[in-house]
Amino acid sequence: MSTTNIETASRRFALKIPLALMSAALLTQPLRALAASSANQVSVWKTPSCGCCHEWVAHLRKSGFEVVTHDVEDTAPIRQKFGLNAKFGSCHTARLGNYVVEGHVPAQELRRLLREQPKALGLAVPGMPMGSPGMEMGDTRDAYDVLLVLADGSSRIYQSYTSKTSVKS
Ligand code: CU
Ligand code: CU
Repeated sequence: MSTTNIETASRRFALKIPLALMSAALLTQPLRALAASSANQVSVWKTPSCGCCHEWVAHLRKSGFEVVTHDVEDTAPIRQKFGLNAKFGSCHTARLGNYVVEGHVPAQELRRLLREQPKALGLAVPGMPMGSPGMEMGDTRDAYDVLLVLADGSSRIYQSYTSKTSVKS
């Protein structure tokens, strides 16, 4: 091996170590640091033609959240990647810090989530209930629950909205 080759090889090796350390660090300390630096930022994955997704994003922005949207052909793989069971599925999947947010979750529940920091995977409003933020249809309102989804895949009711509950932005 010539000197140049050895140099190149050692340089490559030196480069590999920090990369390996970096990816290990990314895996072992989940997005805590990131969450702290962008507590108000929501990333949303949606399909480009989804009108109610657009409305939900507008609702979040109006409530003071910083929203970054990603248009994808199918949100199912995103949901799966974040570890959320398809039974909780709605039209869009979002990320708020370490949490997964699925469907038309009211902004006030996101603020509560940030305040309370429960040990959970995130929040979900499965399906697309009428009258939830982004799903306004005149006076038509469904009763629906915002679910707190735990890491083991179970869920409990975080907040119930009756057909009479008004959603503050
Ligand atoms: Cu929708
Ligand atoms: Cu949507």
